[in-house]
Amino acid sequence: MTVAPRFQFQNGTLHAEDVSLAQLAKEFGTPLYVYSRAALHDAWQSYARALEGRKALVCFGMKANSNLAVLNEFSRLGAGFDIVSGGELARVLAAGGDAGKVVFSGVGKQVWEMQAALDAGVKCFNVESEAELERLAQVAASSGRTAPVSLRVNPDVDARTHPYISTGLKENKFGIAIETAPRVYRRAMNLPGLRVVGVDCHIGSQITEAAPYLDALDKLIALIHGLRDEGIHLRHLDLGGGIGIRYTDEQVLEPVTLLDQVFARLEEAGLGHLELVLEPGRSLVGNAGALLTEVQYLKHSEAKNFAIVDAAMNDLLRPTLYDAWHSVEPVMPRPVTSATPSYDIVGPICESGDWLARDRVLELHQGDLLAILSAGAYAFAMSSQYNTRPRAAEVMVDGDRSHVVRPRETLESLFDTERLLPDA
Ligand code: LLP
Repeated sequence: MTVAPRFQFQNGTLHAEDVSLAQLAKEFGTPLYVYSRAALHDAWQSYARALEGRKALVCFGMKANSNLAVLNEFSRLGAGFDIVSGGELARVLAAGGDAGKVVFSGVGKQVWEMQAALDAGVKCFNVESEAELERLAQVAASSGRTAPVSLRVNPDVDARTHPYISTGLKENKFGIAIETAPRVYRRAMNLPGLRVVGVDCHIGSQITEAAPYLDALDKLIALIHGLRDEGIHLRHLDLGGGIGIRYTDEQVLEPVTLLDQVFARLEEAGLGHLELVLEPGRSLVGNAGALLTEVQYLKHSEAKNFAIVDAAMNDLLRPTLYDAWHSVEPVMPRPVTSATPSYDIVGPICESGDWLARDRVLELHQGDLLAILSAGAYAFAMSSQYNTRPRAAEVMVDGDRSHVVRPRETLESLFDTERLLPDA
């Protein structure tokens, strides 16, 4: 068993659904991102089942994986999208997504991005500051449009996750402090070009307990009641904060476990009529992807054993950036003995921080293939071309078939837009 149900061994070889990863490596080369279409569906269904019969919209936090095939698949399943840039909006539209189901988050929206989102007709702007509110009012009014607005409030709850991915604490840059939110709502009601439609929060990512969500929800409910008493009526509540996935042995929170409690509290508070918006990213794609890489060299030194592979921090930055743990599975595992060494799995990039996994007891030979699991979220999406390394290809497996959803970048494409200087 691996942490990713759609990546399992068949006859001693790791497969994505019914396709051998060894076969894919042969066909498309490494490093290679491999996704499972069925895993996308499984993850989607875990939300769909929990929301059945409810007034709710799941907006895929597409920063986790913005490949058009992934976006298109979710769009066909009925998803909306949580975007944080004009670039992400362009991707949603290119993938056939419905702009009317897009919520636009982010602390630094520029004028052109606001304009593009207004032109496309997004569901709402999650406004993160008073200055942004004023800019949005101006942009909307001057183009004769009305911007649907939700304030992203900062509920000051601790999501008890990695500090880099905790977003709902007072000291984070995100959102409007919940105590000042009523004043900002009043201001929004009085500015031209705006229509107040909702409230939003996002408390962090890789959350494994219901408690922080429920704490945030209670604060939002109090805010909504206060606003209602002032005659400000909202239509939706966007409860952001991403449910965690299993990277190793985490006990994960099932959407239904959380959402049953959320709906119960809303009903208790007399707010059963509100539409619930969710913005999951990682939990929809994280365990739907693996990064396939080949061992180039084994290097044994006094202090450490290294397996130098052809994937690197430019392909998967999470270990370097967050000290993140990803499961590493040999595609055709060899028996482990008492003499089997423990390896650091590292890439070819000229940085000591270029590592993918540490201290893994694996029986390895040069040329072996490894699958780095749970690499469907914040993996390719955070990749770069550092060290002039073409970004990996991406392949989507569907049953016993595979489709290239992004070919490997060519070397020429890495610099073909660069220009030399004229003679001095
Ligand atoms: N909505 C907003 C406004 C967000 O900022 C995020 C993630 C999401 C939705 C999706 O959250 P999720 O369901 O994926 O937790 N690169 C980091 C994660 C950064 C998350 C930032 N915001 C990582 O690799 O762990």
